[in-house]
Amino acid sequence: MKGLLLTGGHGTRLRPLTYTGNKHMLPIANKPMLMYGFDQIRAAGIKEIGVILGPLQEGIVDALGDGSKFGAKITYINQPDPKGIAHAVIISRDFLGNSPFVVHLGDNLLKDSVPELSREFQKSDSDATVVLTRVKDPSRFGVVQIENGKIVKLVEKPKQYISDLALAGVYFFRQTIFPAIEKLKPSWRNELEITEAIQNLLDAGGKITYHEVSGWWKDTGRPEDILEANQLVLKDLKPSTKGKIDEEVSISGSVEVGEGAVIRRGASVRGPVVIGEYSEIGGGAYIGPYTSIGSHVKIQGAEIENSIVLDGTVIDCRERIVDSIIGKNSKIISEHAYRPSGRRFVVGESTYVSL
Ligand code: G1P
Repeated sequence: MKGLLLTGGHGTRLRPLTYTGNKHMLPIANKPMLMYGFDQIRAAGIKEIGVILGPLQEGIVDALGDGSKFGAKITYINQPDPKGIAHAVIISRDFLGNSPFVVHLGDNLLKDSVPELSREFQKSDSDATVVLTRVKDPSRFGVVQIENGKIVKLVEKPKQYISDLALAGVYFFRQTIFPAIEKLKPSWRNELEITEAIQNLLDAGGKITYHEVSGWWKDTGRPEDILEANQLVLKDLKPSTKGKIDEEVSISGSVEVGEGAVIRRGASVRGPVVIGEYSEIGGGAYIGPYTSIGSHVKIQGAEIENSIVLDGTVIDCRERIVDSIIGKNSKIISEHAYRPSGRRFVVGESTYVSL
């Protein structure tokens, strides 16, 4: 069994965060998003993993290296012009050889089912196994129709309702998927759609099985999805302290404090919260549930809840910040001495500010 982890794609719905960095490297509970899929593939005992790189590759090779630190062997495969999931699979054909394989989208988080599904798929004679989950808005996904326990139809982003069972971004295939991809034409969004390839496979008499997700699944296309994924992961957080917590700090719930981090006297932290390495939470600051603070962050005075603050950011103000994702090396500060008074901004393109 081999694995393919997809990290191409533009991440347009996450701009401006994705102008300067790869979406799949955005942290969820202080761990790059793509590591969740990678860890699932590794947990399935798969060692040979192909990582598909799109045009924005920053940080990915640094994070994964040659895979040896994870007991894996990584082959990087370039997809300079992201042309869809099926395209990523077909360009990986040499790497995949004759092995059955799992495709895991780097922006999908699935709680614990890849190892078990991988075992079942290898024992089976299925051409493909797909992972399904019920969604409220099926028109945003690939959707399947099931009759008498069998998949009879698959449609990518259906305009008309066919069912609420969406394809989660984890697929198991054998070599029979390749001819099904070769038949594809680019879709309306100029991609080779894996959903259509699976339909081709079905039409050619292939055996497609499915598994409905029992735990949670999250696709992280939009900022609110990232915050929800952050909540889901933090719910299972185990408390740990490698940094320093001063006396007279109020701490409750699960809190992880990274090496070199300091929580100063008078601060208050209510978990689940992660605080990254060498960050400083000043007296008077309040960090509330479901918040991930990256490394080398400084927070003074502010109250922050249900938010993600990336590395190197400084927040020094007497404001309450909620449901926010704050990019790397940003500054949110009150400049009381500044006149004329008013809010001052230096914000990048496609920034969203809610006052
Ligand atoms: C892709 C797939 C879609 C699947 C979804 C899961 O959509 O095309 O079938 O349901 O991932 O996240 P995209 O993220 O490209 O819109």
